[in-house]
Amino acid sequence: MSMRAPVTDLPLMFVEVGILAGEVPILSQITLTFDAGAPTVLIGPNGSGKTTLLRAAMGLIPASRGRITWGGRENAPSDRRAFMFQRPVMLRRSVAGNIRYALAAANAPRAAIEERTSHLLKVVGLEPLAQRPARRLSGGEQQRLALARALARAPTILFLDEPTASLDPHATKAIEDVIRDIASIGVKVVMSTHDLGQAKRLGGDIVLLHRGQLIEHTLALDFFDTPRTPEARRFIAGELLV
Ligand SMILES: Nc1ncnc2c1ncn2[C@@H]1O[C@H](COP(=O)(O)OP(=O)(O)OP(=O)(O)O)[C@@H](O)[C@H]1O
Ligand SMILES: [Mg+2]
Repeated sequence: MSMRAPVTDLPLMFVEVGILAGEVPILSQITLTFDAGAPTVLIGPNGSGKTTLLRAAMGLIPASRGRITWGGRENAPSDRRAFMFQRPVMLRRSVAGNIRYALAAANAPRAAIEERTSHLLKVVGLEPLAQRPARRLSGGEQQRLALARALARAPTILFLDEPTASLDPHATKAIEDVIRDIASIGVKVVMSTHDLGQAKRLGGDIVLLHRGQLIEHTLALDFFDTPRTPEARRFIAGELLV
């Protein structure tokens, strides 16, 4: 039996990636490397291409131009990547039932499902609500359950599309705490947000998109202290980028 080298999706690389919807360019000339480490945070106005970039990075949509590679491979299977959508759909089951379902879908061994379900409930702080119907949870609790389901895939990269949109500060903090925990155990988080405070709190590096173009990609500290582009300066100052 041959030994296989451990396979990883990192680095995730975009090389001159363009994405078209029909004839319309949605992303243009995106060259970007996602590497292990603190979360990468995508920011930019509505329609700038954040969700599209995340979907392409997950492998949900192909590049119309250029190349996307995961650990050097172009057609890497996506089973060790997970995506949390902005408005997650809860299954008509209990909280624990949603997690069990996600574990089974991720081919977790049957014997391990109960233990992993309790572990994931603990990770996202939903143990007390384990038996509740998932659809009755508050928005913030549903987001945390969606995080647990994404983690059921034991991802090496976790994509989060605006994980705290429309949540209050308390619920936002709960999600940010989970994201920090996830990142601290070595999962690469790539997320989008409209919350600049959140980008600052969580981001290791920041990617600013505008009209489908990559305007700036810098370490979070540098981005907020010494933005290099006029767009970044204006965006940080809270001016409208149109
Ligand atoms: N399948 C598609 N067909 C046509 N246009 C699309 C398609 N998907 C996205 N777009 C357009 O591409 C642009 C970028 O969309 P995207 O959802 O990636 O932006 P976003 O930065 O996530 O915006 P928001 O902050 O509002 O979530 C938008 O103008 C959108 O209407
Ligand atoms: Mg979006």
